[in-house]
Amino acid sequence: MYPIISQRKREWMSKEVEVGSASELTPGTVKGAGQFAVGNADDELFAVTRRCRHLYADLANGSIDEDACLVCPWHGAKYDTRTGRMTRGPQGIFAKIPGLGMAVKALTLVLPLGRGRVVERDGTLYVE
Ligand code: FES
Repeated sequence: MYPIISQRKREWMSKEVEVGSASELTPGTVKGAGQFAVGNADDELFAVTRRCRHLYADLANGSIDEDACLVCPWHGAKYDTRTGRMTRGPQGIFAKIPGLGMAVKALTLVLPLGRGRVVERDGTLYVE
């Protein structure tokens, strides 16, 4: 699942994290829980590591767009929450730098956002 990271980091990431009440994670919502940005994209719950691959913005402050992608709050890069890959590079001034968007997107082909599994128990969500 995480071929590039160390065993130690895998163990750290495998610890369960409480997200909060399931009823609060309505469609379009994103929140932070430990090292994860957890959200609801078109009624599909997801958990991805919360640092953007561009300049490390906190993706827990991002939003869900009409394509059910997670949008970075700083420069608008978009992520497919099922794969952790960037589907659109940084926008604004960064979109004018030749090759930058492609390079960052390519990075997420080999180093996508880490993903956790969201589970519900007794009305509370956890990331495994
Ligand atoms: S920090 Fe996320 S797009 Fe720039």
